[in-house]
Amino acid sequence: MSTFKAPKGTYDLTPPDSAKYLAVREALSAPLKNSGYGYIETPGFEDVALFSRGVGESTDIVSKEMYTLTTKGGTELALRPEGTASVLRAALEANLHKLGNLPVKLWYSGSYYRYERPQKGRYRHFSQVGAEAIGAEDPALDAELIILADQAYRTLGLQNFRILLNSLGDKECRPVYRDALQEFLRELDLDEDTRRRIDLNPLRVLDDKRPEVQKQLVGAPVLRDYLCDACKAYHEEVRDLLTAAGVVYEDDEKLVRGLDYYTRTTFEFVHDGLGSQSAVGGGGRYDGLSEMIGGPALPSVGWALGVDRTVLALEAEGIELELPSSTSVFAVPLGEEARRVLFAKVTELRRAGVAADFAFGGRGLKGAMKSANRSGARFTVVAGERDLAEGVVQLKDMESGEQQAVALDALVAEVQQKLA
Ligand code: HAM
Repeated sequence: MSTFKAPKGTYDLTPPDSAKYLAVREALSAPLKNSGYGYIETPGFEDVALFSRGVGESTDIVSKEMYTLTTKGGTELALRPEGTASVLRAALEANLHKLGNLPVKLWYSGSYYRYERPQKGRYRHFSQVGAEAIGAEDPALDAELIILADQAYRTLGLQNFRILLNSLGDKECRPVYRDALQEFLRELDLDEDTRRRIDLNPLRVLDDKRPEVQKQLVGAPVLRDYLCDACKAYHEEVRDLLTAAGVVYEDDEKLVRGLDYYTRTTFEFVHDGLGSQSAVGGGGRYDGLSEMIGGPALPSVGWALGVDRTVLALEAEGIELELPSSTSVFAVPLGEEARRVLFAKVTELRRAGVAADFAFGGRGLKGAMKSANRSGARFTVVAGERDLAEGVVQLKDMESGEQQAVALDALVAEVQQKLA
C-alpha cells in the first residue's frame, strides 16, 4: 500500500483480471473491424463547447457530470464524457466526409469520464468501445450497428441481455410531440427541479424512475402516436431488417436516452443481471449533430458499448472467457552458467515468435517452479551444470508431466513443433 489510492469512482485493471478486459475490448470491436469500420482515436479532452452544444446543455452529462478545466492559456476544456461528438468533430476536421465514400464508418475504444455518484457498474472513469457511421440516412445502417453489437455480445457468450428499441422522431414531428408532452406534464404535481426539466428537456421526465413520478405519467402522450410518415416508415424498415436478421428486440416507447442529439432510431442493450446500472450499451441516430457543431448536414448513427459493464455482465452469467496463457515456455536456470545460457535461449525463443519468460531474481528452484506454474506456461525448461556439460536442457510438459532431455541447439525447433 502506498499513501495514495485510485481516486473515488475509479479502479485499476491489474493482472490477471486485466486480460479479461483486453479480451472484452477485442471481442466488442472484432465485428466492426470485419464490417468496414476504420479505427479512429481522438484526444481525451476537447473544447467544453463541443459537448455542451453537441450532447446538450440540459443533459445531466453536461450540466452535472463533466470534468472541466481551464488551461493556463485560458482555454476551457472538458475530459470527454462520451465519444460521438469528438469522433464527428475529428471526422469533419479531417474532411473524411469529403473523400467521397459515405458513410464514413469509424470505431474507437477508450476511456471516458463522468462525475457521477459511484456505485457498482457506474464509475467516474470507464471504458467504451464505440462505432459511428457518418453521412448516410439508411435504415440498413441502423440495423447493421444493432446486429453487430448483438453479435459482439453473443460471441462473448452473453445471453441475458435485451435490446430496447424506439424512434424519437425528427425535426418535423418531435417538436409537435414535445409541445403535447409539455402541456401534459405541466398539469402534474412535480417538484421544482422536475418542473424546470419540463421546459428544458421534457422527454427526460419520462425517464424519471421515481414511483411518485411514474404513477402520474400514466396516460402521457406517446411519441409513437406523433411520428411523421417518414419517421414511421424509416422505423418500420429498421425493425423489419432486424427481424430478418434474427435479432430479437423489444419496442420501448419510453426509451429516450440521456443525450440530446438523438433523432429517430434509439436503442439500448440492457442486461438483466446488473441491477440498476443495467445498460451495457446504447446508441442511436443523430441526424442533426453535425450542424449543431457547425458542420454540414450529415445524418449519422452509432453506438457505444460499456466495457466495464460487459465484464460485470459476464460475471453475472458466470461466463469464464477462455484466455490462452500468454506464456508458452518458462525457463528455470540452476546456477550462474545456466542463467546466461537459458537467458540467451529465452531471447532466441521470443525472436522465433514463442512466448517465453524467465525466472528472474536468482531465487531457488522451488520459488522458480512456483513462478513457472503461475505463468501458466505449457513447458518449462530447466538446466543445471550437469545438463549443460552434456549440451542438453530438461524440457518438461506441464500438462502431461513428461520430461525429456533436449539438445540445446534443437530446443527452439522442438518447442515450436510441440506447440504447433
Ligand atoms: P451512453 O449511453 O451514455 O452513450 O453510454 C454508452 C455505454 O457506456 C452505457 O450503456 C454504459 O454501458 C457505459 N457507461 C456510461 N456511463 C458509464 C459509467 N459512468 N460507468 C460505467 N459505464 C458507463 C454514449 O456514450 C453515446 N456516445 C453512444 C452513442 C454513440 N450514440 C451514438 N453513437
